[in-house]
Amino acid sequence: TSPFAPRHLLSIADLTPTELTTLVRNAHHHKTIIKSTGEVPTSLRSALAGRTVALTFSKRSTRTRLSTEGAVVALGGHPMFLGKDDIQLGVNEDLYDTSVVMSSMTSAIVARVGPHADVADLAQHSSVPVINALSDLYHPMQIVADLLTIAEVNLSSSSSSLGLEGMRIAWVGDANNVLFDLAIGAAKLGIDVSVATPKGYEIPEEMRGVIDQAAATAPQGGKLFETNVPEEAIKNADIIVTDTWVSMGQEEETAKRLKAFEGFQITSELVKRGGAKENWSFMHCLPRHPEEVSEEVFKGPHSVVYREAENRLWAAISVLEGFVVNKGHITSSQ
Ligand code: CP
Ligand code: NVA
Repeated sequence: TSPFAPRHLLSIADLTPTELTTLVRNAHHHKTIIKSTGEVPTSLRSALAGRTVALTFSKRSTRTRLSTEGAVVALGGHPMFLGKDDIQLGVNEDLYDTSVVMSSMTSAIVARVGPHADVADLAQHSSVPVINALSDLYHPMQIVADLLTIAEVNLSSSSSSLGLEGMRIAWVGDANNVLFDLAIGAAKLGIDVSVATPKGYEIPEEMRGVIDQAAATAPQGGKLFETNVPEEAIKNADIIVTDTWVSMGQEEETAKRLKAFEGFQITSELVKRGGAKENWSFMHCLPRHPEEVSEEVFKGPHSVVYREAENRLWAAISVLEGFVVNKGHITSSQ
């Protein structure tokens, strides 16, 4: 790679534990300042002035589009949203041509794709940073927001860590893109993750290797536990997380999956049987369907899902600042 090769964010695995911590802390810093003053500070507001960021999405999105488009505006740039029917990507033109051309006219590319290879190909040929806005393997911006959601209640500006070591996250549901990056991030921050999936829907072997590697990048990496029994995963959990049982692109498997995941719905009875910590929190990246979590838990006092969703904006500002404004040099904004 040339010394001018841009740095991309395709997965949380691309970050050191310190960089991940810094991105989360910067997100918290921007959230605090912008919400308390009602304004974006001048330094941020001009950071991408006169520059364009392409947001190319081949799948639907509410949160990722709102947050990345809003983040580009907060940084003074111009977001150019390109939906799947707007550009030639993958239909009339190959990824190489699209990537070279798109990056010749923009300062960054935020891409939501199907196969992870698509965003990896875009990155390989792009002359500007490429940020993964969800692929079938990873969802890094979601995880920066999730870690902010978990950490923010206890964040003080004095300590440089997020203070999450030794925590336990239970993931009950499908082993998917959101779980993979969450498990990688948790491993890097010393958080243990216990995963319950139905038989046949476990974490793929290669991904387990990637998560183990992530744990090895930390002095005291978080551990991964796996089971097919939801109660076992929930035992002693501080945080309980799930996501849809049918990710975008898996619609044809809907009937089969709904059947396979029976008994995996997060309900207060399940949480009680499992024995979560008393002050457990419920998280979900959204969009949510009633089968994976009961209304009572989703809207109940333990749920932090709407704060988690809002945190996507603060995470997107932090990620774009780190990767686009500061070209991959992730340093503290405080
Ligand atoms: N959580 C998330 O990525 O939501 P969207 O698909 O609506 O962007
Ligand atoms: N796992 C889900 C996440 C949506 C934000 C999907 O890929 O569809």
